[in-house]
Amino acid sequence: MAESFEIILSELGALEGAFKSESDEVKGPQALEEIRIKYLGRKGSVAQYFKKMGSVSTADKPKLGNTLNKLKDEFQTEIDRIQVSLQTKSEDNGFIDLTLPGTPPQVGYRNPLMLVMDEIKEIFSSMGFSTETGPLVETEFYNFEALNVPADHPSRDLQDTFYLENDLLLRTHTSPVQIRTMQKQKPPVRIIALGRCFRKDTPDASHSPEFHQCEGLVVDKGIAFSHLKGTLLAFARKLFGPNIQVRFRPSFFPFTEPSAEYDFSCIICSGKGCRTCKKTGWLEISGAGMVDPAVFGYVDYDAEIYTGFAWGMGIERIAMMKYGIDDIRHFYENDFRFLKQF
Ligand code: DAH
Repeated sequence: MAESFEIILSELGALEGAFKSESDEVKGPQALEEIRIKYLGRKGSVAQYFKKMGSVSTADKPKLGNTLNKLKDEFQTEIDRIQVSLQTKSEDNGFIDLTLPGTPPQVGYRNPLMLVMDEIKEIFSSMGFSTETGPLVETEFYNFEALNVPADHPSRDLQDTFYLENDLLLRTHTSPVQIRTMQKQKPPVRIIALGRCFRKDTPDASHSPEFHQCEGLVVDKGIAFSHLKGTLLAFARKLFGPNIQVRFRPSFFPFTEPSAEYDFSCIICSGKGCRTCKKTGWLEISGAGMVDPAVFGYVDYDAEIYTGFAWGMGIERIAMMKYGIDDIRHFYENDFRFLKQF
């Protein structure tokens, strides 16, 4: 007598359910292989049902064959899927190759200007200087007038200075910190002032409307130009090495008398002459001089008793020399490829 195809179909439904719940529980490759043998092995459940092909009616034979083939494919696909997921899990969690390099977390980098400013601070601190700061938004009094810069001086021009409302401006140098320090402190004074300054410059390889300066100021009894020379030489040698020379050339600044510009011997060719120093052997740094007695007048220091020296310095210029950077705009572009080199 032919077996009922309907009964076989419902048995196959139960078999499918059993396979699903067992395969869902599989924890490892061993258990998965056991399931494969149980359902798809030579003597497994599906094979047993194929044997029943002989006992169903001729009309049901192709239907049973079809159903069993589909079921076999379905079981096989599921077993393959589980096998892949077990493998991935074991790679993730099971085996850790400690010899492989790790993935370092992405960290930020300090702008080389900050590194140079830290170094400058440290050098001057070791020479007994403290670091003062001042506001970026200044008054005309601190930025120009108290520094003895006359009203018709070109640096006061609209072309050069960013003026704001109410007689305020963006400071064009760190020199106003001299005045602020002397107003609140009696001599002796030994300070540097580091920070941002602004001028209406069109950006190119050596100009930026935003830049940084280091201002220095020493005031005491008996301070002479030789102290200025000694201070800058000691600084230059700590920063660039023991063979650096410093030279002074006569110049003019409203806040110093006498005034000078100072150069460091070229750090690339040690003064022999190369492309960087345009064959002169010297690199221009900035200005310096003895504090003009007129400046002391603005802060109530007695110029008969005290003398002092001051100097300026461009941080970008120092950083460019130190790291061999050829374009000032790199400092302000925040390009990760540039920053990560320092
Ligand atoms: N303030 C000047 C500038 O921005 C630099 C400078 C020159 C500062 C001479 C000084 C100095 O203290 O004595 O160009």
